[in-house]
Order: sequence, then C-alpha cells, then structure tokens
Amino acid sequence: MKIFDLKKELSTFTNEQRKKDRTIGLVPTMGALHTGHISLVKKALSENDLVIVSIFVNPTQFDKKDDLDKYPRTFEKDIELLKQVSDHIVVFAPTVDEIYGGNVTSETYEFDGLDKVMEGEFRTGHFDGVGTIVELLLRTVAPDRAYFGEKDFQQLQIIRKMAEIKDLPFDIIGCPIEREPHGLAMSSRNERLSKETREEAGFIHKTLLAAKAEFGMKSATHIKDWVKSEFEQHPLFDLEYFEIADENTLTPALKIQDNQKYRAFIAVYADGIRLIDNLRLN
Ligand code: PAJ
Repeated sequence: MKIFDLKKELSTFTNEQRKKDRTIGLVPTMGALHTGHISLVKKALSENDLVIVSIFVNPTQFDKKDDLDKYPRTFEKDIELLKQVSDHIVVFAPTVDEIYGGNVTSETYEFDGLDKVMEGEFRTGHFDGVGTIVELLLRTVAPDRAYFGEKDFQQLQIIRKMAEIKDLPFDIIGCPIEREPHGLAMSSRNERLSKETREEAGFIHKTLLAAKAEFGMKSATHIKDWVKSEFEQHPLFDLEYFEIADENTLTPALKIQDNQKYRAFIAVYADGIRLIDNLRLN
C-alpha cells in the first residue's frame, strides 16, 4: 500500500493518475477507523478507480486541547484495516508541520450562517478548522469525488458550501450513518466510553426515533421540550443541544412547512465525551 506524507508527492501522484484517465475518490478522516469510515471508503471504491484516504488529526478544528490530546490514534491498525479492504487505496498521512508549517491556524470562512448554529455555536472556530484542512486536501488531491458522512451532517453541508464559494469543481458526496447494533452512531470517540455507557447509548438514537414519530403531529417546541425532559431523567447523559432544523439552511424550524426537509440534531455528553447524531424527520 502506498503511503504518502508529503503534499507535493501526493499531488504529483494524483496528477499522473489523472493523465492515465483514472478517476480518484477522496475520503478525509482523522483515523481511528471504524465501520462508518470504511462504508465511505467502499462507496468511493465502487465509484472511482483509485481512492485516497487521508488520516490526519487536524489540530485547528479542536476547540479543547484535552479533546485533541485524547483523540485516539491507531495508525498501524488503520493501515491493516484498509489493506484488508482493497489494493486500490492510497493513504495520505501528513504531520502537523507538513500541513501547517509553523503556523497552526485556520482560515476564516463565510459559510452563510451554516456555521453559526449547533456545532458552530458550541465549538468556536471548529468549522474554520474543518474548512481549512478540507480545502487543502481537495486542492492537493483534486479528486473527482470526495466522500463525507451524514453522521456530521452540518459538516457535510458546510463543505458543500465551501466547495461552492471557493469554486472547487469536485463532487461532494454524502453517505448514510453507520450505527452500532443498538443504534449508537459509530464514532472514534465511542472507544473512550465505559462499557456500561456504551451499552446504554442506544438511548440517543431511540430518542431521535421517538422525536421522528411525533414530528408532524406535535410542534417542534413540544418535541424539543420532551427530548430535554427525557435527558434530564437519564443519569448517564447530559444533553448539550437538541434541535429540529431545515436540512439545507440548518436554521431551527419554528413553523414546519410541507415542502421543506427537516432533521433532528443532537449533542450529548457521556462520561465527559461528546457524542453527536442526527436523523432525517420527513
Ligand atoms: P472523522 O471524524 O474521522 O470522520 C471522517 C468521515 O467519516 C467524516 O465524513 C464523517 O462524517 C464520517 N463518519 C464518521 N462516523 C461515521 C458513521 N458512523 N457513519 C458514516 N460516516 C461516518 O469528520 C472528520 O473526521 C474531520 O472533521 C475531517 C472531515 C476529516 C476533517 O478533519
């Protein structure tokens, strides 16, 4: 398996591949790979001749140093996992210095308000950090298609917006959320949960499903209050936010309109670890 750690070498390689008319899919990750990541890789493999998986824990998108320090790093295991999936995978695993030089800061973006709500409200600067690394990866690889999970639905919409604003002519493809058997959305952070909390964490998805069942019958405010009270009664989970928002604008739904698509979004602390999830409502 080819593993690049320099931007220049990677872009030389992808340029050569393009000259040979080979299509390229890009799957950006921060490693600690699980079935959720692999579902993106498999979709990319099914639609392209070659897939670049980047593995880079991007410091500028972490608002808390402790979260960055504790982020799981399992590089050898990740490579073994990717080798089992296909020979057509190339890995890009740069150092922080290679990406940022001496200047570990992010660019400031104007995402038309998409970055002001939910994750953006609770994680200052997070989406500028995401934008910075994803723009760099897109420009370095110049893929035909880039793949992102709906697990981070707000991130997916922001990356679509960035590609539009920056005139990056690459297809941004959203992929469905992979879940653990009892419903918890797969995440590298799940590894840090205690056994008991992880077993109980299907509660988050179950609550989203219950909210969906009420959607259209009860008002958004009623559903939000109900979700809050469910979490107040649960000893293991602290709700940070629950929101019902328009899928495209991400603005909170005050009045439900028939021709709009809505999603429920949630962020919860469990064992001090932050978990997010979302579900399409209509
Ligand atoms: P990371 O959390 O490693 O996720 C990499 C990609 O995998 C993202 O597009 C994410 O939405 C997707 N993903 C994670 N869990 C998933 C699941 N359970 N089902 C489906 N897809 C899932 O997201 C990031 O890294 C970073 O912000 C990144 C985009 C790489 C920029 O640093």
